[in-house]
Amino acid sequence: MIQTLEWTDRGVRFLDQTKLPTEETYVTCTTYQQVADVIRNMVVRGAPAIGVAAAMGIALGINDSKAESTGDLKRELDQICDVIGQTRPTAVNLFWAIRRMQEKFERIRIRPIPQIKQALIEEAQRMHAADIAANQAMGRHGATLIPSEGGVLTHCNAGALATAGYGTALGVIRAAVEAGKKIHVYADETRPFLQGARLTAWELMKDGIPTTVISDNMAGAMMRQGKIAAIVVGADRIAANGDVANKIGTYTVAVLAKEHGIPFYVAAPISTVDLACPDGSQIPIEQRNVKEVTHIAGKQMVPDGVSVENPAFDVTPAKYVSAIITEKGIARAPYADSLRLLAGQEAEVRG
Ligand code: MRU
Repeated sequence: MIQTLEWTDRGVRFLDQTKLPTEETYVTCTTYQQVADVIRNMVVRGAPAIGVAAAMGIALGINDSKAESTGDLKRELDQICDVIGQTRPTAVNLFWAIRRMQEKFERIRIRPIPQIKQALIEEAQRMHAADIAANQAMGRHGATLIPSEGGVLTHCNAGALATAGYGTALGVIRAAVEAGKKIHVYADETRPFLQGARLTAWELMKDGIPTTVISDNMAGAMMRQGKIAAIVVGADRIAANGDVANKIGTYTVAVLAKEHGIPFYVAAPISTVDLACPDGSQIPIEQRNVKEVTHIAGKQMVPDGVSVENPAFDVTPAKYVSAIITEKGIARAPYADSLRLLAGQEAEVRG
């Protein structure tokens, strides 16, 4: 299995996704500030992977602490969480992971400091393992929705690289293939950062799953030609009403899917559901450096001085979403009810 990120004795090790698909290199972070940098610079990216990276960054920072009292350690924890919390605003998994580490600290703060440090490392490792298990469960649920043969379109990378392993949208595709379905994946290249062309194609090729890369503006034509039987994407944040924030361009795909009568599925763990966020208009959308748009592989593509925008995500209204696949089961409209029910079960399981 692809090792997107891993806790090691020397620090947190990341597969450097900025170098794929041509170089398979790893970066080891030995400080929490370095972890914040690799999240911000997209060495690691994808909502669930960002969450686990944040947890490991916090564990790393606390493990390095020289604090001699729990009060001082707590102040350091707040400072670390603040730095990591300012890396990427849209993926709610980042804030979910930070909250979970803070809650863990509160539950064990009466213990001696070395034990607190060890418990936080173990919590981050548990989150890593739980993410893989959630993706496999999502795969089992989602595979039932995938037709026995035909083209499946995906946008961005919601694969092993975007998670601790196996993937959300690509986990559903993997599970469908494992169940014997004859699927051909169409991967939108996903401008400007090219997660589809660089990352989705790379990991599906490794698994021997037939894949065709298309530029984003080809998706509509492929649907019209009957090449796409279903669409499955990931999510960075799902509002309580089922509106979905995901990689820029997802909204376009969803609207086109409706026009062509193609099911549009979203696969995401419960940690991506933000019940405190009533609808998509409340989801903060990250604006990234315009250089990602103006330059391709370091070469300037647009004239100097022209106005450029680079929103990293868009919001797909719930009415375009055929179903939301989670590790707890499949949610259908009305999402306000179905998501609350599934997220409630999650809260019970965590106790
Ligand atoms: O900017 P990125 O590459 O972090 O965006 C990733 C996406 O939009 C994914 O579709 C989403 O995080 C789900 S990943 C399982």
